[in-house]
Amino acid sequence: MKISSIEAFQIFDSRGNPTVEVAVSLKNGARGCGLVPSGASTGQFEALELRDGDSRFRGKSVLKAVSNIDRIVAPALRGWDASDQQGIDWCMIELDGTENKSRLGANAILGVSMAVARAAAASRGQALFDYLGKGRGCLLPLPEIQIIGGGAHANWRIDVQDFLLIAIGAKHYPQTLEMTFNVYHAAGDMFKERNRYFGLADEGGFWPDVQSHAEAFEILIEAIERAGYEPGVDVAISLDIAASDLYNKENGTYRFSLEDKIYSSNEFADLMISWCETYPIISIEDAMADTDWQGWSKIYRALGRKVQLIGDDLFTTNIERIKKGIEKGVANSVLIKPNQIGTVTETLEAIGLTQQAGWLPVVSARSGETEDAFISHLAVASNAGQLKVGSFARSERMVKWNEVLRIERALGKRAKFQGGQLYERILTDRS
Ligand code: PGA
Ligand code: ZN
Repeated sequence: MKISSIEAFQIFDSRGNPTVEVAVSLKNGARGCGLVPSGASTGQFEALELRDGDSRFRGKSVLKAVSNIDRIVAPALRGWDASDQQGIDWCMIELDGTENKSRLGANAILGVSMAVARAAAASRGQALFDYLGKGRGCLLPLPEIQIIGGGAHANWRIDVQDFLLIAIGAKHYPQTLEMTFNVYHAAGDMFKERNRYFGLADEGGFWPDVQSHAEAFEILIEAIERAGYEPGVDVAISLDIAASDLYNKENGTYRFSLEDKIYSSNEFADLMISWCETYPIISIEDAMADTDWQGWSKIYRALGRKVQLIGDDLFTTNIERIKKGIEKGVANSVLIKPNQIGTVTETLEAIGLTQQAGWLPVVSARSGETEDAFISHLAVASNAGQLKVGSFARSERMVKWNEVLRIERALGKRAKFQGGQLYERILTDRS
């Protein structure tokens, strides 16, 4: 299963921005590719996405990353056994030699890492989820699906980045999609009735033409009801506040520009807590900023047994930061984005660490996505239990939801689904 060639190209993501595609070929003829996604509300502790920063493509081209693969990575990995994912990933980490993968670029390294995994799976004649999970991956994820998009994904039309839903009452994976379909279209009807239908935000959720966050909640709750479901019982609300984007590091305050309000850390935490008391919320991501550990502690003390508290920018899929979070006890869930850390091996390690701590991982896409459904396989392979890939529209999103349907068929009787029950592991005080 030896690597014979590694080729890299510049392609384009769902926002039309340049990104990296890698194709790995093995001597036995097997091939695999990897397409790298890209965030917009990126965390400051993420591995570095290398962009050229010159006059072409507004500085966003990735030709240096492509050339790093051609000149440095490909010669080093030629002849390597593709089934040695760890050895290959660590070789690239050492070739890079920096803390944040800034020499080769995390986008270069991840593309190779994904393509190697795919080529090795193909060589063994295994589906990617089976290969990555060593035959133990069988849990179909509960989807977390965006209905209204905001923040950096909608030109700050509303401050909160994602209003999502989780079909906690669904009995099986296809039913989560049917329930989401019904609520998504009911929400669309409401935007049309209010003459506020202005299309979709970056991840396919509705463009948030609302007057306040309260109105967004109102639309979401009514859409759930119109679709025939009971809010909080059949379908619950999930939020990604992406609070680091609202945070002023200088004075430790949070700002909602739509409502023209500034909050201290304490006040912002109180607001999040009061939202959870008012609305049927089961999950909040990045409720506080990535350096506001005190704010996180406060939120955790109030909500840690009632609401899934996900760290995204807080942890950036980084083992050391997740360890720190576990020690401090500030969350109960970790968002897992392979391109925040840059290799498949480290991503799997981050998921493992999260699970060992009794926390729940949520495998996630980026706001700039591709037609690659690698993360659907990753979610099943690792029995992560949850998947967040944006909304229920646009092919770069749907390809991931659809891939889970295919995986379900491939698993047959082996397939498992826990639905909302998986929260019982962390939410011991939910009335
Ligand atoms: P990003 O957004 O990909 O723009 O970072 C997704 C998220 O914050 O979860
Ligand atoms: Zn996030």
